[in-house]
Amino acid sequence: IQRTFSIIKPDATRRNLTGKINAKLEEAGLRIIAQKRIHLTQAQAGQFYAVHKERPFFGELVEFMASEPIVVQVLEGEDAIAKNREVMGATNPADAAEGTIRKEFALSIGENSIHGSDGPDTAATEIAFFFSGLELVG
Ligand code: GTP
Ligand code: MG
Repeated sequence: IQRTFSIIKPDATRRNLTGKINAKLEEAGLRIIAQKRIHLTQAQAGQFYAVHKERPFFGELVEFMASEPIVVQVLEGEDAIAKNREVMGATNPADAAEGTIRKEFALSIGENSIHGSDGPDTAATEIAFFFSGLELVG
């Protein structure tokens, strides 16, 4: 059993899509074992996305992620990291497969509704960034 970290991004919380996105995650076999709604400062968003700080879209990304509340969550399941990446779909909704979250809900490559950890090391780091061990009820 594996854990991964997920964010329902501001474009999705703003449009009341949290429940619909959670249904897709659950249908994919992922269990939501921790979840909370928070509003990041730009400094916190910049810290979370520090790995992208040299990318041309960094400023836009940080501003977007701090623009409105997000829902951060920990997902658990067999092969959870890959499973979550699959149900999320490609970064750019124009390239996302039919039935994926980004295909159905994302507005653009930036406002793409959901984040998911891309590997075991980032999953562990990202979970620890937002949650204490006591909050994870597997
Ligand atoms: P995450 O799960 O959010 O990390 O998405 P990803 O792994 O599919 O994409 P990546 O890590 O390459 O980029 C992180 C985030 O930066 C993306 O999810 C987008 O929100 C944003 N992003 C990526 N490319 C672009 C771009 O060309 N323009 C803008 N505005 N944002 C981008
Ligand atoms: Mg990524």
